[in-house]
Amino acid sequence: MKQNLLIVLLVILAFILVVLAQQIKINLPGINQGYAPQQPLAFSHRLHSGDLQIDCMYCHSGADKSRHAGIPSENVCMNCHRFVTAGWDKIRIEDERAQKEKRPPQPVVSDELKKLYRAAAFDETQMKFKDKPYSGKPIEWTRVYNLPDFVFFDHRRHVNADVSCQKCHGAVETMEKVTQVPDLTMGWCVNCHRDVNNGKIPELKGKYASISCTVCHY
Ligand code: HEC
Ligand code: HEC
Ligand code: HEC
Ligand code: HEC
Ligand code: HEC
Repeated sequence: MKQNLLIVLLVILAFILVVLAQQIKINLPGINQGYAPQQPLAFSHRLHSGDLQIDCMYCHSGADKSRHAGIPSENVCMNCHRFVTAGWDKIRIEDERAQKEKRPPQPVVSDELKKLYRAAAFDETQMKFKDKPYSGKPIEWTRVYNLPDFVFFDHRRHVNADVSCQKCHGAVETMEKVTQVPDLTMGWCVNCHRDVNNGKIPELKGKYASISCTVCHY
């Protein structure tokens, strides 16, 4: 009897270990190719960078100045969304309806932008920022790209050497939801550095990118 119980317990323990091991592997940064997490607000790069052609640096202004490209704060969004409260299509539909019904058009506020207004402490019924004691709670975007802590990566070095964002992040301007394109392995970094040094990347000819361990690992 006792022995049977022990076997059952061991089997359960082994099962838990396998599940844990898988979890750890899945969560290990650096091997999440294709990762495209659901974001708390449906922000579309396809719309903003593709259709509206807003420059990447307008929102990711750290990219040529620091290690991190950075995620824009709500203030940056509010430069436009203080005035633009919904997609043009929805606004046009309301305008046409109002014209037919011979009444002034109602303001249209999209559900997604309501989330932004809550975060920015903006009152969309008055179209103004709320007075002081109200403060928004920043949108908690889910990180897509993530290197392990023991790797040193610096945006500034790459961006100032004219390595395009797309070379590393793919065609973000076509993405409804950001997807991790490269696998972010050491091989990915080192192979590009080698290709640069061998003149295999035409637009980066003449540049030199070190492949010594210490530039990427302190
Ligand atoms: C209007 C502002 C805006 C513009 C313009 C913009 N982005 Fe973004 N970007 C964001 C926001 C907000 C997020 C966080 C939410 C998300 O991941 O979609 C983000 C996330 C990202 C991420 C994922 C970051 C992570 O979590 O690892 C990448 C990569 C990125 N942007 C690259 C670009 C590139 C390349 C361009 C130009 C083609 C661009 N972005 C233009 C606002 C912008
Ligand atoms: C040489 C490859 C490379 C280039 C070029 C590059 N990135 Fe990145 N980017 C990365 C890597 C790698 C990470 C993850 C960094 C980390 O985890 O520390 C990242 C992370 C990000 C993030 C997440 C937040 C942050 O700052 O870490 C954003 C946003 C981003 N990149 C936007 C951009 C934009 C916009 C450009 C162009 C102006 C750009 N990147 C150019 C490789 C690149
Ligand atoms: C330079 C101006 C500008 C900036 C900056 C900007 N947007 Fe927009 N955004 C627009 C315009 C214009 C539209 C409507 C475009 C259309 O319908 O064709 C829009 C549409 C949207 C929509 C879709 C609304 C709907 O329901 O259809 C969302 C969500 C959104 N933006 C979120 C954001 C967030 C979050 C930020 C900041 C990270 C941001 N925007 C920054 C101009 C901007
Ligand atoms: C698309 C090609 C490309 C990819 C991918 C790439 N790099 Fe680079 N990297 C370069 C170029 C080009 C330079 C040289 C920049 C210059 O001329 O200053 C460079 C320079 C560097 C430097 C500075 C080296 C020095 O001599 O001080 C570091 C550190 C670095 N990269 C780390 C990384 C890491 C970490 C990754 C992967 C996460 C990566 N790079 C991915 C192209 C790339
Ligand atoms: C251009 C940047 C770059 C250079 C140069 C580089 N590495 Fe790495 N290394 C990385 C990145 C990014 C990772 C994390 C991704 C991964 O685990 O594949 C990594 C991971 C590692 C790991 C952990 C491997 C694992 O499976 O978790 C070791 C060990 C390592 N590197 C050793 C070295 C040694 C030794 C050298 C010199 C011969 C070196 N690296 C040169 C970028 C670099």
